[in-house]
Amino acid sequence: MSNLDRIVLIGPMGAGKSSIGRQLARALGYAFCDSDKELERRTGVDIPVIFDIEGEEGFRRREKAMIDELSRNDRCVLATGGGAILDADTRHRLRDRGLVIYLETSIAEQLRRTRRDRNRPLLQTEDPEARLRDLMEQRRPLYLETAHLTVNTDQAGVQQVVREIMRTLEERNSTQ
Ligand code: S3P
Repeated sequence: MSNLDRIVLIGPMGAGKSSIGRQLARALGYAFCDSDKELERRTGVDIPVIFDIEGEEGFRRREKAMIDELSRNDRCVLATGGGAILDADTRHRLRDRGLVIYLETSIAEQLRRTRRDRNRPLLQTEDPEARLRDLMEQRRPLYLETAHLTVNTDQAGVQQVVREIMRTLEERNSTQ
């Protein structure tokens, strides 16, 4: 059985991991952690600066260590970056340590939600739609293999998704 003291949100950019995570943590009375925000807080610079100076590889190293640390916290909802699941150790750790929820979203919705964003280096390209499609093709199998549960966030608002997750957690809790 998965550990319901730790809830981990995975999924692509624009899936709503941070906004849903924050509200879910509030509903559960848990702390909320966001691995990207925590990286920014500790390094004192934004994600694009880390990409500029250390490249994606440097960012992934930091991301892996940060998630390893944060995923040990109890009574916590952890939002991860869209590419966190690229690392096999991270995938296994997240699955072992908590209940992993994949927030699934269409490319159209991802595009709409990230349109004006300048803080995501991977989307600073001529054709963000093509980039999002490529990333999804590569990553979707990894999201699915890591998650215990998949929730679609396309049509529903934040509160609706939170209620759906809460219902599922209550069901799981009563069968544990
Ligand atoms: C990334 C997603 C971002 C951030 C970084 C790389 C990715 O997080 O970690 O820009 O590889 O998909 P969000 O998913 O929170 O946007």
